[in-house]
Amino acid sequence: MKKALITGITWQDWAYLAELLLSKWYEVHWIKRRTSLFNTDRIDHLYQDIHNPNLKFHLHYGDLTDSANLIKLISDIKPDEIYNLAAQSHVAVSFDMPEYTANADWIWTLRLLEAIRIAWLEKTTKFYQASTSELFWGLDYNRPLAWYTEESPMHPRSPYWCAKLYAMWITRNYKESYDMFACNGILFNHESPIRWETFVTRKITMAVAKISLWLQDKLFLGNLDAKRDWWHAKDYVEAMWMMLQQDKPEDFVISTWESYSVREFVNWSFEEAWIEIEWRWEWIDEKWYDKSTWKCIVEIDKKYFRPAEVDFLLWDSSKARNVLLWKPKYTVQMMCKEMVASDIEKFKKQEILKKHWYEILNQYE
Ligand code: NAP
Ligand code: GDD
Repeated sequence: MKKALITGITWQDWAYLAELLLSKWYEVHWIKRRTSLFNTDRIDHLYQDIHNPNLKFHLHYGDLTDSANLIKLISDIKPDEIYNLAAQSHVAVSFDMPEYTANADWIWTLRLLEAIRIAWLEKTTKFYQASTSELFWGLDYNRPLAWYTEESPMHPRSPYWCAKLYAMWITRNYKESYDMFACNGILFNHESPIRWETFVTRKITMAVAKISLWLQDKLFLGNLDAKRDWWHAKDYVEAMWMMLQQDKPEDFVISTWESYSVREFVNWSFEEAWIEIEWRWEWIDEKWYDKSTWKCIVEIDKKYFRPAEVDFLLWDSSKARNVLLWKPKYTVQMMCKEMVASDIEKFKKQEILKKHWYEILNQYE
């Protein structure tokens, strides 16, 4: 039975990756930093009682700011595979907290790689680094009018991407210097019903669900014309696993060859909630109206524009498709449908629960 260690456990990618590895009979170890509130709802369904003699799912308290703790954990567990997903992964937040982001997204990776070496596991443990698509921007002059590949020149546009660029290169450097199996997954935006709430797709689907249930009046957004290659996280975690099953470590671009604007995602989401909308220009600002009530339900707020933006990206994932035989199963529209439906369901349940509590409390008044 293989052992996998995953950092960054409480959020989307981890939850799907853990599900996948458990279905493949891995023993899964997770590192969770201590928080004052429990934030494990995305993975509670995977939890196993620690007294279970066949326990496959082990929790370790750990923090990527703590080298000694990482060295001890890695030496004790001796994992066959490490997936480094923990990060400060919000681009807009990285402009507000550049120093923390540098620590989180760059030094932590170095710490993990060093911990593997100190534990003498560099020849046996495979290492996956969660790299990002937005290391590239502008034209690739070697391939004008073509898609980016693993070899395209890089031009990061935020503190987050600068930190991730270092992490990508230090992973390559450890591979070359110490002959480690270390590789980067250059992944595009992947989303799902359990995506963190302030990334744009989830912000949209939650707001659309609430608007459709009369729980919210308006959605405020930033740049509607930015284009992204959005896909379902389930398809992407499969690619992460496949990268570590290769004979030699290589970096792979994982993308779908499609790119849609934030505006299109807003449109699809309202369609899924059966709300017909129409957008109009008012002075310099764009506003969107609910056609059945003519209430304004989407407005632009400059606060959500970034100091530097990546407007458009297209990537060529043919290497992953040819070598890993990776192929996505979802479409972006299927994913949007799933996200809207899940958020509507969630808020309906919350409202029913609230009503139930009001009824109980009323009995005591
Ligand atoms: P995410 O939702 O932001 O999750 C980050 C995880 O890191 C959380 O579980 C967080 O735990 C953990 N973490 C933060 N600080 C920590 C610390 N000091 N010690 C231990 N754990 C810590 O990210 P995601 O969307 O799942 O993405 C996973 C990785 O893929 C990230 O590295 C991201 O940069 C990269 N990536 C994501 C995408 C995408 O579109 N999703 C695309 C390309 C690359 P808490 O709950 O305690 O905060
Ligand atoms: N978050 C957010 N909130 N983004 C908005 C908003 C808003 O209100 N309005 C417009 N946008 C635009 C952003 O300007 C950006 O162009 C696009 O929507 C997507 O923003 P995010 O969902 O925050 O994702 P991201 O592309 O910046 O970063 C995500 O994908 C990267 C991979 O391509 C993150 O998951 C990163 O960690 C990841 O590396």
